[in-house]
Amino acid sequence: MLIGMKALIATGRADEPVALADLDEPVPQPDQALVRVAAFSVNRGETFKLENPQGWLPGKDIAGTVVRAAADGSGPSAGERVVAHLPGGGWAELAAATTADLVALPPYVPFTTAAALPLAGITALRLLRAAGSVTGRRVLITGASGGVGHYVVELAAAAGAEITAVSATPERGRRLRELGAAAVVPDAAAASGPFDVVLESVGGRSLPAALARLAPHGTLIWFGQASREPVTLDFFDFFAGPEGATLRHFHYADAPGPYGPDLATLVGLVASGRLHPEIGRVADWAGTARVLTDLRERRIVGNAVLTLENI
Ligand SMILES: NC(=O)c1ccc[n+]([C@@H]2O[C@H](COP(=O)([O-])OP(=O)(O)OC[C@H]3O[C@@H](n4cnc5c(N)ncnc54)[C@H](OP(=O)(O)O)[C@@H]3O)[C@@H](O)[C@H]2O)c1
Repeated sequence: MLIGMKALIATGRADEPVALADLDEPVPQPDQALVRVAAFSVNRGETFKLENPQGWLPGKDIAGTVVRAAADGSGPSAGERVVAHLPGGGWAELAAATTADLVALPPYVPFTTAAALPLAGITALRLLRAAGSVTGRRVLITGASGGVGHYVVELAAAAGAEITAVSATPERGRRLRELGAAAVVPDAAAASGPFDVVLESVGGRSLPAALARLAPHGTLIWFGQASREPVTLDFFDFFAGPEGATLRHFHYADAPGPYGPDLATLVGLVASGRLHPEIGRVADWAGTARVLTDLRERRIVGNAVLTLENI
C-alpha cells in the first residue's frame, strides 16, 4: 500500500517557483532504495529547469536515511544514512535513489553538509579532471562565489594551482581567499593573466574577457551561463589572441559511469577535513521558494540547503 507524502512541485511561476503538494510516495525500481529525505540542496541549474519544468519533479541532491533497501540487494540497508544524486523528485519527504548514485555517510558528516555535495561537488571534480593536472598552473574561475566555485577553488588550490577567482564583491569572495584563491577580482576583465585554464560559467561579457586572458595553448572550459546573457565572440579577436587555444564543451553528466564513486570521493574529502562545503543558507524546506529567489538574485554565497527535520 502506498503512503502519501509531501513534496515540492514546480508551479511555473517566477515569484513562487515551487509549492508543497500531497503526492503518492515513489515506487522504487529494483535497483533503487527508498530514502526518507532529511535535507536537500538547490542549484542554479534547477532554478532554470523550474522555468520550464515539463512534468519534472524537482530535486537532484538529497541526504537522508534509507527506509527500504533496494529489492535487488544492492546498496545500503534500511536505517543507513546516505547522500544521493537523482534525476529529480528529491524535494520531498521520500525519494527513490538508484544505489549506484548514492553512498553511505559516516556518522560525523551531518545531513546538511552532505546535501550540499552532489551536483556542485561532482561538477567541480569533473571540471578539474577535464582541465587535466592543474599543479603549478594558473587557473581563472568565473562565478566563483557559487556552489561549484567554492569546491573548484579549494580542490584546485590543494592540488597546487594558482587560482584567480571572480566574484562580484570582496564580501562574496571572502571565503574563496580562505580556501586558497591567490586573488579574487570583481570581473574577468580585471584578472591579470595569462591563464593556462579558464573555467567560465557566467556568459555575457564574461566569456570574451576571460578568453582574452588565456595563455597560448590554454583551454577555456565553458560550463554555464549564470547571467542568462548569450555570449558574442568576434573571430578576429580570437584569431589575434592566444595561439592554439581550445574552447571546450562541458556537462557533468557526460562522463561515463554512475555518480556513486565521485560522491564517495567528496564524502571522503569532507570526512578527512580536506573539503569544506561553503553553505551560505540553511532553512526549513517550507521556505524553499524564497531561497530559490535569493539564489537566483545572487543573495546566497556557496550552497543553499533546506531541511525537513530537526537535524
Ligand atoms: N555544465 C554543467 O555540467 C554544469 C553543472 C553545474 C552547474 N552548471 C552551471 O554553472 C554555473 C554555476 O553553478 P552554481 O550552482 O555554482 O551556481 P551559483 O551557486 O548560483 O553561482 C553562480 C555565481 O555566478 C555569479 N554571477 C555572476 N554574474 C551573474 C549574473 N548576472 N547572474 C547570476 N549569477 C552571476 C554569482 O557570483 P557573484 O554574485 O559573486 O558574481 C554566483 O554566485 C551555473 O550557470 C550553472 O547552471 C553547469
